[in-house]
Amino acid sequence: MRRSIEKAMLCSLLFLPGLPAAAQSVPNPAMTAPDQVAWQLFIQANGRAGGSNAVFETWASDTDTFKPNPQFPTAATPPVLRRPILPQIAREGVQESGGLLPALPPGISQGFTEETRHNKATFDFIVQNNLYKVSGLKAAFGKTLSFPADSIEVKANWVAVSDIPAFTNNRVTVAQVPQLYHVNTADNVQYALVSMHVISKLVPNWTWATFEHTFNPARCDIVGCRDGFGAQTSVVPSNPVAGQGYPDCVKTPALSAMFKNADIDPVYQNYCLKGSQSDFVDNLGLDIRVGNSVTEDPFVSTSSCMTCHGRAVFDKNGKATSSAGFLSFGPNGPVGPLGPLLPAWYWTFSSQPPIFEGKPGLSQIATAADFVWSIPFCAFDDTQNPVKASRCAGK
Ligand code: HEC
Repeated sequence: MRRSIEKAMLCSLLFLPGLPAAAQSVPNPAMTAPDQVAWQLFIQANGRAGGSNAVFETWASDTDTFKPNPQFPTAATPPVLRRPILPQIAREGVQESGGLLPALPPGISQGFTEETRHNKATFDFIVQNNLYKVSGLKAAFGKTLSFPADSIEVKANWVAVSDIPAFTNNRVTVAQVPQLYHVNTADNVQYALVSMHVISKLVPNWTWATFEHTFNPARCDIVGCRDGFGAQTSVVPSNPVAGQGYPDCVKTPALSAMFKNADIDPVYQNYCLKGSQSDFVDNLGLDIRVGNSVTEDPFVSTSSCMTCHGRAVFDKNGKATSSAGFLSFGPNGPVGPLGPLLPAWYWTFSSQPPIFEGKPGLSQIATAADFVWSIPFCAFDDTQNPVKASRCAGK
């Protein structure tokens, strides 16, 4: 009896509901085979959803989510694009703390646009808990928020098709783009998908992974590329000179089989897993860094998905505690937080360390949004009159 229960439990760990099957099954794949699970999630999010649309394009954008009476879309919607927010926020942070607004370093974010999408499970959790508006965040202060296990979110970056030749150092012509990239149209302009972050709640602190188009010129710059499941060359060190491009991430038979068995546009085989992240530090104490050459463009060297997203918090007024808190601005541009989460990000304390729950003098100043940055960042402010719209609307 006992054995059969254990066996059933093990099976439920081997086969992740809704994900394409992997040829080689391992226990606890989200933790022990994060690169394999990253590819399963990528294929799930980018599977065909009718016409030329991918599944993630049927999910709710930030614009669908962070507004009065949010509605989950009933069909695919065009990308809701905006300029990348992170460098902008870092600059505003300097200004807020009394400094001069730094200029954007040349070349940064030029022509890059981005959007965020939430699957139904994520959307429902945000809406049911009123996390799309500041009054709801105020009410949630001090609570423990935890998304359901079937939550998936993506952040996608797009470059106008007409800009792809310049962006790829002329490795791709405009005519070749539709054969090599996932393409969609926003405001009558055709855009090519160049990068994608995919996160899922298959583990309590989420799974973290980022993908880049094979022709992204800075794909493995600074931190290298790592894919222990899908790439025949699993570790690619960064080039000494930035922006020169990298050899294709030739797929392993295991990943090719996964693509073959999935209903997905073959253009997606031109994307590479840059890396995944399952912890804050490695077992030798070094901070883990994973950053996308497009999304985290100005601060790949100080990008830790989990550390920065651990700083997705709000205060008792339902506001992001400090726009500069998660991204400081050094002489060479924005700098992200690395390593473990620190108590001072969430608590004030009058006593000396060690600091632990129940210790006198400890009081909470910030509530964690379960790593979902769009919550404190995009919630619209209904505590003001007139109501202040979300900063995450398009453009
Ligand atoms: C320095 C901070 C920082 C780092 C590093 C960072 N992010 Fe984010 N991320 C943000 C912010 C702020 C947002 C919210 C803006 C938005 O809605 O796009 C966000 C949004 C997202 C979203 C959309 C869902 C959400 O949380 O709102 C995903 C998915 C995501 N990031 C994944 C990643 C992955 C994967 C990495 C690492 C490869 C990463 N991020 C690195 C700050 C960061």
